[in-house]
Amino acid sequence: MANGDQIKAMLRAYKDADENQVLTLALQIAAREAKAGHERLAGEIRDLVDQLREQGSIVAKRHPTPIAQPKGELADLVNVAYPDARLDDVVLSTETRVRLDRLVREQRQANRIREHGLHPRSKLLLVGPPGTGKTMSAKALAGELSLPLFSLRLESLFTRFMGEAAAKLKLIFDNIQQVRGVYLFDEFDAIGQQRATTNDVGEIRRILNSFLQLVEQDESNSVVIAATNHPELLDAALFRRFDDVLRFELPPSSAIVELLTRRLVRHAPGLRVDELAEAAAGLSFADIQRACNDAIKDMIVAGRDHVAEQDMKNALQERRSDRKNFSQSI
Ligand SMILES: Nc1ncnc2c1ncn2[C@@H]1O[C@H](COP(=O)(O)OP(=O)(O)OP(=O)(O)O)[C@@H](O)[C@H]1O
Ligand SMILES: [Mg+2]
Repeated sequence: MANGDQIKAMLRAYKDADENQVLTLALQIAAREAKAGHERLAGEIRDLVDQLREQGSIVAKRHPTPIAQPKGELADLVNVAYPDARLDDVVLSTETRVRLDRLVREQRQANRIREHGLHPRSKLLLVGPPGTGKTMSAKALAGELSLPLFSLRLESLFTRFMGEAAAKLKLIFDNIQQVRGVYLFDEFDAIGQQRATTNDVGEIRRILNSFLQLVEQDESNSVVIAATNHPELLDAALFRRFDDVLRFELPPSSAIVELLTRRLVRHAPGLRVDELAEAAAGLSFADIQRACNDAIKDMIVAGRDHVAEQDMKNALQERRSDRKNFSQSI
């Protein structure tokens, strides 16, 4: 156990908001415990110190400085947000969850992994149909790691800066190096689609190559995520640059039940979720989420205190027909 003097020193450091001193004292206590044969306790203290160091200054977080907004040219290219989402908010397949948890753990222990000459997982390709949780997962990763989320759409980069796109990409990767964050290249398929449809493939090929090189060379502390709906359009070479390729699917019935239960349990205690899940089969998470919101709004507007099962069925039906009409019109 820590002795009284150590506790006094820690409290003094805490009073002075001297975080480094608090952590140094904690490591001294860990060393003492290890000597006394309490290896496990010592390891746990060291892990906690590592986690705190990874999270950055708590004092700074308690007195937050205004959020750093990208400046100059960069402001035109990326959006920044500080999400407080969590992975528990996202309904995920077991495999995807396991892999995302592994990335979070490796990122939290990044320094240790680097000390052994290895790289923590940091490059993800998210693949799956619209509304299945790709963007939401990127937000949740940023939330779990307490990092800013920088998002950009490659498509707009190409359409706005044709000819200069490679230079702009370089600028973004410089930022990835300098400012630790989660960087989401959303609707990443723009590269592949353009490549498949443009006659003049030269420019697109050049951009694709420089993107691949930049991803490959990236050894920063940031997390780079690319998301796509159309994996079939992407080059096999692309897949190899990522530490993990995560597949997102339309929800199976177990996930539909989970989502409906989470969303409606407070508003509709006796709801027959299994029956509703059948009515929701084939819809995306986003569709179901919206149907739940619609039914809850119906409840509010009608002045009821619970969601009516028929309202929920109607809302799901409406999503289904919107989806059908939309796919017929394209
Ligand atoms: N797996 C999920 N678990 C819980 N809610 C989800 C999930 N997927 C989607 N949603 C709901 O749908 C909304 C939209 O999802 P999201 O933006 O993550 O989809 P996406 O996969 O990025 O789609 P797109 O390919 O169109 O960009 C989320 O904000 C959330 O409300
Ligand atoms: Mg998305």
